[in-house]
Amino acid sequence: MSEAAARVAALRALIARHDHRYYVLDDPEVPDSEYDRLMRELRELEAAHPALRSADSPTQRVGGAASGGFAAVSHGVPMLSLENAFADADVLEFDRRLRERLGTEAIEYCAEPKLDGLAVSIRYERGRYVRAATRGDGATGEDVSANVRTIRAIPLRLQGAAPELLEVRGEVYMPFAGFRRLNDEAAAAGEKLFVNPRNAAAGALRQLDPAVTARRPLAAYFYGAGTWQGAAEPATQRQLLEQFSAWGLRTNPEMRVVGGAAGCLDYYRALAVRRDRLAYQIDGVVYKVNDRAHQQALGQVSRAPRWAIAHKFPADEALTVLRDVEFQVGRTGVLTPVARLEPVMVGGASVSNATLHNMDEIERKDLRIGDTVLIRRAGDVIPELTRSLPERRPAHARRIELPVTCPVCGSPVTRAPGEAAARCSGGFVCAAQRKEALRHFASRRALDIEGLGEKLIDQLVDRGLVANPADFYGLSPGQLAGLERMGEKSAANVLAALERSKRTTLPRFLHALGIRDVGEATAAALAAHFGTLDALRHASAEQILEVPDVGPVIAAHVHEFFASPANRALIDRLLAAGCSWPEGAPVVRAAGALAGLTIVLTGTLASMTREEAGAALQALGAKLSGSVSKRTHVLVAGAEAGSKLARARELGITVMDEAGLAGLLRGERPPAS
Ligand code: IVH
Repeated sequence: MSEAAARVAALRALIARHDHRYYVLDDPEVPDSEYDRLMRELRELEAAHPALRSADSPTQRVGGAASGGFAAVSHGVPMLSLENAFADADVLEFDRRLRERLGTEAIEYCAEPKLDGLAVSIRYERGRYVRAATRGDGATGEDVSANVRTIRAIPLRLQGAAPELLEVRGEVYMPFAGFRRLNDEAAAAGEKLFVNPRNAAAGALRQLDPAVTARRPLAAYFYGAGTWQGAAEPATQRQLLEQFSAWGLRTNPEMRVVGGAAGCLDYYRALAVRRDRLAYQIDGVVYKVNDRAHQQALGQVSRAPRWAIAHKFPADEALTVLRDVEFQVGRTGVLTPVARLEPVMVGGASVSNATLHNMDEIERKDLRIGDTVLIRRAGDVIPELTRSLPERRPAHARRIELPVTCPVCGSPVTRAPGEAAARCSGGFVCAAQRKEALRHFASRRALDIEGLGEKLIDQLVDRGLVANPADFYGLSPGQLAGLERMGEKSAANVLAALERSKRTTLPRFLHALGIRDVGEATAAALAAHFGTLDALRHASAEQILEVPDVGPVIAAHVHEFFASPANRALIDRLLAAGCSWPEGAPVVRAAGALAGLTIVLTGTLASMTREEAGAALQALGAKLSGSVSKRTHVLVAGAEAGSKLARARELGITVMDEAGLAGLLRGERPPAS
């Protein structure tokens, strides 16, 4: 057997397999674009080697064969397919050909969306619904009368005067909303999901029990006619659709009559932009000659009319191979797996990467390196790896493992039980996280270093002047003044801000360290509980767990942080640089020490923010309130306290300053007043 003959046989077998999956099982294994590619290759081979042609080749029929279960219906007027146009040039050529054949200057076209559903032919006798058939191979389809009858959008009686006999043709489809609902229900019931709305619609029409079809959210638009007896036929495609509407048959409201190829292309571009906002899936636009006498005159070639063409949108799905998975480390230390793909054209652009989000997703999609995968790209949306084709998995396919150490800094990677995200534990040590960690350290709610913003930090890190926050305190005026947008004056301001930031509070200092999951409130609770940094540094995970509102996960993070030699060295350097705060005594009575007290905070506090203080007070059991009333026990007043202070004095409520607040935070209750 020649090489060509072997390939032809292989292609026919492949296409037969895909036909079966698509038409019989309603569960295609490959996207339409892949199927089209195989068909194209087969057609080209058969054209080049006429000896290889055969009547049973899939190129010799349109669509799939009728399967058992439904009676065969032969179409009096065949149900045609359409030629495809993929580029503007194909549309220009189509229009040129038609003008030449008709001998006219300009042609009017009816343009409308090409729905991704199933073609049906419905027969009305004296206006009554009598039968519905699928297209099948164009000559013979299947009788799906009972199922189509369940679609509420399809009238069982036409309105007004109807012809003796009429076959209307259109597309049955499933709107996106119904498709999503159906899949949500299937997911909840643990059933298999439908790949796309077209397959869901096909599956619904092929149900042996019409009661099942009735529960599927199907709709239809009508666009053509077959047999038409006992009434005059409309002269134009537009009038045909208007007549359909008058009878109560749904027609697509997006239909427009346009002038020439230019009008077609304008319509195409406008619809391409809105494509994702339509309520149903479409895969292109159909242009039909508006004048039906011209349609007649043009006739058909093989099984497609000369007077119409489908202008397809670029395929938004394609198959490719997953070459590798790499892990990117984000600013917050989260590791994101990224698929490295064999480059492939999808939605008109070449795609070689796709994010995989996290390890759970890799598991759910059952991905291995070497797998053939389906890539989808809808509109401007970032490409998505939809699924793998395990049936094509090569023997050498490799499992995807979460790295044990960070690909950027080599620190251990941690993944909390029950959490999707894996993280690098490196913090300041990790170059990927360094800038973000430094920005956090200097931020207002942390050490509040004025003038040390993102741009400046970028420069300091990029020039190797700063790698961790202790390096901030070793900066010289000369180093700062040498940077972009930095004069001597602003350099001096930054140095002064750095100097000021050293006098801080323990909650701020702890928050600034960027310990995972330790925000302001937790930092305040830790500070209140342990009183000193030393006590916290030497605490066991169990002891940390005793802090109100701290659970086992946070306790473990805090303990790990202080156990890391790199972090210990960092803290020692910060202390040596002069970072300091008034140290309190540890709280002896922990949770509940302030239970039953209602406290109001007002004015500006020097040692911490109101949020920090509030969280720490709540951790001790106090109730916080936003306004002063007779039920308030204590008002803590910082600087510039106003009306709340006046009201508290009026009502004779205990007023405390920051020293009093410190006492409260140690769990000391106010004297009963
Ligand atoms: S006209 C003689 N209009 O596309 C013209 N077809 O590839 C016959 N389709 O079998 C078709 N939307 O299933 C036409 N607005 C539309 C369409 C449409 C979807 C489908 C239909 C047909 C296939 C041809």
